[in-house]
Amino acid sequence: MLTIALPKGRLGDKVFSLLRDIGCECEALGRDERSLVITEPGGQRRYLLVKPSDVAIYVEHGAADIGVVGKDVLLEGDNDVYELLDLKLGKCRMAEAAPVGFREDRQRPLRVATKYPRIASRFYASQSRPIEVIKLNGSIELAPLMRLSDVIVDIVETGTTLRHNGLEVTRDILPVSARLIANKASMKFKEPAIGDLSGRLAREIARREEQA
Ligand code: PRP
Repeated sequence: MLTIALPKGRLGDKVFSLLRDIGCECEALGRDERSLVITEPGGQRRYLLVKPSDVAIYVEHGAADIGVVGKDVLLEGDNDVYELLDLKLGKCRMAEAAPVGFREDRQRPLRVATKYPRIASRFYASQSRPIEVIKLNGSIELAPLMRLSDVIVDIVETGTTLRHNGLEVTRDILPVSARLIANKASMKFKEPAIGDLSGRLAREIARREEQA
């Protein structure tokens, strides 16, 4: 049996529909909010519903063979897993944003509020820009409004949250989308099942892109 860790929430709904489209028997996914483990009627695969930031932890430790996780979470967690496929779902970008009209003082470290301290630190190090990281867990856009930070590093999808809070993108950092990841031992011992699923996903993604 293949165990697959899936993210609950916005990305999860898109992944459930992709899995249904390639013929997985997972109609129950997304229907019952309380079940955390859903097994296919045929018993071929079971799905674990976890917080997006926990998917790669389940996969790294072998509690799941494969999983689906955003590239942002994957880079931030730095877990020891294989990245198999770009699912081209949940597309957005990681960016720096600041209050409209913000002028950076290059004489002192930039104060950066973010849920992604590792990604932010790597990015500014690559720009040779000294920073002070302020790690937050949500509502990041509030930080510069309250002068807790100068800028934020966060996910931007439609840009609505930034606009509503008087912020604008000041530096693009990286494009983000969902990735299929695998446990390293599972890739040795369950390669046929993982390879088959990954192949079907790749064909479906290509088909969707052709139609778009
Ligand atoms: C994310 C992100 C932004 C928002 C961006 O938050 O942190 O706040 O989405 O989306 P937009 O550009 O379409 O407005 P999320 O809703 O995941 O919640 P969070 O505050 O817990 O991170």
